[in-house]
Amino acid sequence: VRNTDADWVKWAEQEPYFAVLSSPTFYTANLNEASLESFFQSGVLDIEYLMHTIRTRVFPGFAPRSALDFGSGVGRLVLAMAAHVERVVGVDIAPPMIAEAKRNCAARAPGHDISFYNEIPEGEFDWISSVLVIQHIPPAIGLGILQTLLSRLAVGGVISLQFTAYRTPAHLQGAFDEARYVRFDGARLDVLDDQEGPELRMAMFDYDMTAVLSKYADAGVNDMWLRHVDHGGHHAFWVIGRKE
Ligand SMILES: C[S@@+](CC[C@H](N)C(=O)[O-])C[C@H]1O[C@@H](n2cnc3c(N)ncnc32)[C@H](O)[C@@H]1O
Repeated sequence: VRNTDADWVKWAEQEPYFAVLSSPTFYTANLNEASLESFFQSGVLDIEYLMHTIRTRVFPGFAPRSALDFGSGVGRLVLAMAAHVERVVGVDIAPPMIAEAKRNCAARAPGHDISFYNEIPEGEFDWISSVLVIQHIPPAIGLGILQTLLSRLAVGGVISLQFTAYRTPAHLQGAFDEARYVRFDGARLDVLDDQEGPELRMAMFDYDMTAVLSKYADAGVNDMWLRHVDHGGHHAFWVIGRKE
């Protein structure tokens, strides 16, 4: 299975903003005040959407005091979350992302209680969230991370995560790049053996939603809301739930 952690350190070193939102506007060479403003404004809109969805679909009284953003990148969502909670923790595998996120938070939200970690810290959070992250982590690793995230959710807290679950055939090439041998029996494609794919990629992986939902249930998150999203052929689900 591909070492996506190493990919992310390289992305963070080379193109941290484009790696978060893959539009040419966010290549380092193109960044300016206006493009950065739209970058961070997109985070405000994402968090407003989540807050609204949680309050209308999952828990009307949602008023978290602490939040954890998993895969926090350059702080796009951490900054937006800081407007809603007293304490935000960002977690990212790539140290250069954390360094950039710290610079952004110091400049854009001075005085807020925002901290960053390379790994998921101990402690409990009222809100655990992750956007555009788990899809890039192989499920063999991602399901373990999901279990750890769920274990950090406070009773009464809400978890809002995105999972990709299937794709149109146009997006198969990415999977084939990692395959040495495949078998196709007319109904099912299996990777028999994998290999190191191209040097730097933004790999995408599809999750078995039964495996995902059973982890939520095991953690006492039985009240769940799902929404399907088509990211241009990568089909994803928001899974938002509250721990009882
Ligand atoms: C596409 S970016 C999204 C960043 C942020 N969630 C946002 O929407 O602004 C994915 C981020 O997840 C981080 N990441 C990838 N794998 C990770 C892992 N296993 N643990 C923690 N962070 C990870 C990457 O370093 C990168 O910063």
